[in-house]
Amino acid sequence: IAFLLIKTLTTCLIIFLPSKSHETKRQNMEASLTARDRVGIQDFVLLDTYTSETACLDNLRKRFHENLIYTYIGTLLVSVNPYKELDIYSKKQMDTYMGVNFFELPPHIYALADNAFRTMMSEFNNHFILISGESGAGKTEASKKILQFYAVSCPSTKVLNNVRDRLLLSNPVLEAFGNAKTLKNDNSSRFGKYMDIQFDHQGGAVGGHILSYLLEKSRVVHQNHGERNFHIFYQLVEGGEEDLLRWLGLERNCKHYRYLVQGNCAKVSSINDKSDWKTVRKALSVIDLSESDIENLFGIIASVLHMGNIKFEADARGYAMLNNNQEMQWLLGIPNQVLQQGLTHRKIEAKSEEVFSPFSVDHAVYARDALAKAIYGRTFSWLVNKINESLANMDSSRKTVIGLLDIYGFEVFSVNSFEQFCINYCNEKLQQLFIELTLKSEQEEYEMEGIEWEPVPYFNNKIICDLVEEKFRGIISLLDEECLRPGEATDLTFLEKMEDKIGGHPHFVTHKLADQKTRKTLKRGDFRLLHYAGEVTYCVVGFLDKNNDLLYRNGKEVMRQSKNAIIKHCFPSTEPDSKRRPETVVTQFKNSLVGLTEILMMKEPWYVRCIKPNEAKQPGHFDDVLVRHQVKYLGLMEHLRVRRAGFAYRRKYEVFLQRYKPLCPDTWPNWKGTAAEGVRCLIKHLGYKSDEYKMGRTKIFIRHPRTLFATEDAFQVCKHKLATRIQAKYKGYKVKGDYLKQREAATKIETCWRGMMARRERQRRAWAVTDLLICSRFIKGFMNRHQPACTDNSEYLAFVRHSYLTRLKENLPKTILEKDSWLTPPPILQELLLKAQTSALFKGKKENYPFSVCRPFADTRICAEDISIKVLQMIQHEKVKYSVPVVKYDRNGFRPRLRQLIFTQEAAYLVEEAKIKQRIDYSSLKGVSVSNLSDNFLILHVTCDDSKQKGDLVLQCDFLFEALTKLSVIVNKQNCIHVVQGSVRFDIQPGREGFVDFKSGQESMVYRAKNGHLMVVSL
Ligand SMILES: Nc1ncnc2c1ncn2[C@@H]1O[C@H](COP(=O)(O)OP(=O)(O)O)[C@@H](O)[C@H]1O
Ligand SMILES: [Mg+2]
Repeated sequence: IAFLLIKTLTTCLIIFLPSKSHETKRQNMEASLTARDRVGIQDFVLLDTYTSETACLDNLRKRFHENLIYTYIGTLLVSVNPYKELDIYSKKQMDTYMGVNFFELPPHIYALADNAFRTMMSEFNNHFILISGESGAGKTEASKKILQFYAVSCPSTKVLNNVRDRLLLSNPVLEAFGNAKTLKNDNSSRFGKYMDIQFDHQGGAVGGHILSYLLEKSRVVHQNHGERNFHIFYQLVEGGEEDLLRWLGLERNCKHYRYLVQGNCAKVSSINDKSDWKTVRKALSVIDLSESDIENLFGIIASVLHMGNIKFEADARGYAMLNNNQEMQWLLGIPNQVLQQGLTHRKIEAKSEEVFSPFSVDHAVYARDALAKAIYGRTFSWLVNKINESLANMDSSRKTVIGLLDIYGFEVFSVNSFEQFCINYCNEKLQQLFIELTLKSEQEEYEMEGIEWEPVPYFNNKIICDLVEEKFRGIISLLDEECLRPGEATDLTFLEKMEDKIGGHPHFVTHKLADQKTRKTLKRGDFRLLHYAGEVTYCVVGFLDKNNDLLYRNGKEVMRQSKNAIIKHCFPSTEPDSKRRPETVVTQFKNSLVGLTEILMMKEPWYVRCIKPNEAKQPGHFDDVLVRHQVKYLGLMEHLRVRRAGFAYRRKYEVFLQRYKPLCPDTWPNWKGTAAEGVRCLIKHLGYKSDEYKMGRTKIFIRHPRTLFATEDAFQVCKHKLATRIQAKYKGYKVKGDYLKQREAATKIETCWRGMMARRERQRRAWAVTDLLICSRFIKGFMNRHQPACTDNSEYLAFVRHSYLTRLKENLPKTILEKDSWLTPPPILQELLLKAQTSALFKGKKENYPFSVCRPFADTRICAEDISIKVLQMIQHEKVKYSVPVVKYDRNGFRPRLRQLIFTQEAAYLVEEAKIKQRIDYSSLKGVSVSNLSDNFLILHVTCDDSKQKGDLVLQCDFLFEALTKLSVIVNKQNCIHVVQGSVRFDIQPGREGFVDFKSGQESMVYRAKNGHLMVVSL
């Protein structure tokens, strides 16, 4: 459940949960309403007091101080020049704006560029972006930002990158030739520019085309104080290579050239002519200019500079003449003679004759300057054409285009002249275009949404356009008429003509026509137009002259003689000569504007209005008066009024419902029906009045911003409650999740633990079983330890033996004979001690000893049952220690008889069945003799005091070594056993002796020798 809930609340979570995800960055328009007190609103359309210039200004100011330089009026973008680098043009920013809907992110030039591009791609139609604003407001920067955005966001291939580089690099070239430092802007464009970017059906930029408008040629020969000529002149003089300068006859010093010093500011800190020169040089080759083109181009720039330095002197009649002018040689390879003639004379054609009339000095200067302007102006057009050739796309498949129009905005100076008239006329035309296109698209949207179109009052500036351009009656017609008519036409006659023809027009006023109050604000030579953006007063002085832009016919002829290919191309011999007068400047301009309007009318419009916050080019400074002025002249209020003609706010049902559904219990958390029904239910709950909104086919239209704001504020309040609920749910969900995880983990651990314990128990039991077996065997072995070795005790005995020997190893006595210091062996190993004893007694002494070593000793050789009970009864008290069968040889006659020899604690007994034949108390045992040979004979010597006592015993015993060792232990006399050689003497009875002789032989034998001795032969 929690999961489902969270899923449904995703949108809300985006706002509530602090997260750095991409989603949070998508602060959509409605979301930003929250902070509107601080950062203003992102769309002027939502200004409740949309007719108030002050409210508009306040909003701009708030945003400007928060570094929010962009604000929308619907889809129009207002941009305030920050005069500082903002971190909003990075690649990352571009990525953020790519493919995102207009209102999903804060206003940005990238949003506009991206939306224009995406609309073009999806609808496969053409668009244009009109960028307007005062000089220095940021138009050119804006157009560059758009171009850069496309350079990064459009698909790229090697070929496309080539086009992209040309598009980008055409900019520095055009800026070098067409931009200049003015008082308003260090890089002011002195021409209007319309650039088409052509895209193929996959969105790749495949080509471009540039149209230029009304280059300010007068700048070539004259600059106001604090202004400069076009950048290219300074770049060449400052940055040009030594060789190049020498070849062009130039010196590296701008002060030498009259055309460069009039503004008295050749050097500007914000401009680096040297490095700009390098950029331009490089760009020229990228846009496909050949080396000879480039040489010719710089030849022209140098020639213009030289031309400016030409001086005229007056001859005796006051006519201009050229004396010793060094510059002449550098002028475009034109023969000196021709040039001199051309600069000092005017050709007049009279009937079939050609007459040269000399110039006065002033006239000559005028003609020289006119020529310089013409040369520069035509070269500029040539350059634009060249760039167009390099941008041209040869592929004939269908293309769509986005046009970028970087054009002068409304200009109002203290003194306004012909140029301002043209420029402001241009803006009137563009405003007309805007009105037509905007109203058209508004109407279309209403129609599409099925909403009735309600005509709303707004100012249509068509009346002013007509005033200027109407055939025969318009100001342009009147001006041309005045320029062309024979007779003495002057600026003032032009003024009178206007007063005469259009004097009654509500948007036209002059000193003469004005009422008392207005008259005070007008000079005699002024006329005032009430433009859509406000009043502008023009001074008629210079209108005729500038409109004529006279270039004497022979000036052109002179140029035709140039060796410079560009000049030749710019002054073609096929040019219609003076028989048909060339079109006046204003007519040319009017025609080019008509052309432009036609181009634009067929495209979808997007607008960028640039505003300059202060005159000092300072960051952070917002000059209220200046901005108010621009808001007015940019027609922002008019624009807003048109936008707001119907409804302030419109959104797709889905988007509206998604955001505001928490405000109604029926739509929260999920609406089951269609989005439109959901919205209807929602607004019913919110209590919208019927005249506050309209339901279109796919969108809701809200008439006043205050309705939307109330909804938004309610949402802000509700959001916190919701946030708490969501958080609680989420926490619960998370804790539950954690608990389940822990429980699972605990179960797992328990299972493992139990398994391990069980395995251990099983092992223990298995061990116990084995242990038991071992134990039982051990016990059995223990119980049978005294039995002869058998399966029952073998293991036990082995263990005992092993353990004793291990212990013994550590505690061996110094010598074998230190009897007491031997570790007490276990019974089965008593034998070992005995064997050691045997070894001490017989080793190396008796021959058959080695054979005895491996024969284990036994405790006894006759078991108790085999000894007569009678005997046992008699000797029991002495404890029987050992018994062994023996052969006794009679002392007399040596007859062998089987007997038992029994050792007790006290004595040795010779037993014959139930009879004790002889008792030998150990105290009376003198010793025991054995031979050194392999026989088994032993002779027990006894003390014999009286004759009744029996004498020594001669015995043969198969267990001789065992018996004697036991005996020696029992009697505890080591030296009682003697190993002898040859013969043993023994007492038969006191005083009577016998002998036993030992020898070795082939066969073992025992017999009575002839000498009466017992002879024992052993092997
Ligand atoms: N978006 C911007 N960010 C930073 N500086 C800007 C911006 N727009 C303009 N400027 C500054 O203002 C100057 C004038 O801008 P520019 O586009 O040449 O004006 P215009 O073409 O309207 O005469 C630029 O050289 C630049 O220093
Ligand atoms: Mg510009």
